[in-house]
Amino acid sequence: METTLPDLAFAADPALCNRCGRCVADCPAKILALPSEGPVELILEKSGKCYQCQHCLAICPHGAISILGRDPRESLPLAGNLPSARSMEVLVRGRRSTRSYKQENLPAKQIRELLEIANASPTGANRRSVRWTVIDDRAKLDGFREKLLDGIEKAIAKQALPPERETFASFPRLWKEQKVDILFRGAPHFVVTSVPRNARTPQVDGIIALSYFELLAQTRGIATVWDGLAYWAITEFVPEARHWLGIPEDDVICYCMAFGLPKIPFQRTVQHTPPEVNWVR
Ligand SMILES: Cc1cc2nc3c(=O)[nH]c(=O)nc-3n(C[C@H](O)[C@H](O)[C@H](O)COP(=O)(O)O)c2cc1C
Repeated sequence: METTLPDLAFAADPALCNRCGRCVADCPAKILALPSEGPVELILEKSGKCYQCQHCLAICPHGAISILGRDPRESLPLAGNLPSARSMEVLVRGRRSTRSYKQENLPAKQIRELLEIANASPTGANRRSVRWTVIDDRAKLDGFREKLLDGIEKAIAKQALPPERETFASFPRLWKEQKVDILFRGAPHFVVTSVPRNARTPQVDGIIALSYFELLAQTRGIATVWDGLAYWAITEFVPEARHWLGIPEDDVICYCMAFGLPKIPFQRTVQHTPPEVNWVR
């Protein structure tokens, strides 16, 4: 059976390629070769094996390679642009779960920018199929909360709440009587990652993506909280919530996060115990 090869739009600029061979050595699919003269070439009959990782474009010291129609001049250079080791330490040690938020919505542009960058997170076999379901407006999250709490009440009435989720029984009352929002911690926004079931590593891809989202958010003064409570409600006892959110039936729901501007920002890192390491001797 004949299979059509994908058009990778691979091009190496003969004026820039000095045949150093770095792209050939790095290519995980081994589909590049140096001919006896001239710039690096794609082995056409192997193009179906391409991971579409763009490593060739990224590794070329001279910006000679373009693939999938991407112009290397539009990539961000790494030299001189990486955060310092200290900044990354402060970011990783200083990220916090925030449980009190300002009422105001974030500008839509800022949310879009965060998603755009976080979507650069790695995915198994470079499948790149993380779907971001976002509530970008407090009023919409209010509506979703109402429905979710209603669903929780119905699950309680049907005795469908698993014993380990007993704590959910108090959520509808806390919201109705005291406006205490345990489900979303009062945040104006909510994001769920989901990935088609047939991806190589669906759950992990979506969780990594949210981890990147969280760290990026902190660098922009935006606070987050991993939302296990909403995740359990949606995946365990209010399954129709998936449809309210428009998440396809075939997607694995990876995880959830609430976010927005913090009411009270944190001032310093916390001091965790050292890691438990099993050094293999
Ligand atoms: C997978 C996961 C689920 C979580 N779910 C919730 C949640 O539903 N509500 C909440 O307030 N915090 C939630 N958290 C936050 C943890 O409780 C928090 O990480 C912990 O209290 C330590 O605080 P820190 O994140 O500020 O270091 C979750 C964290 C993780 C990693």
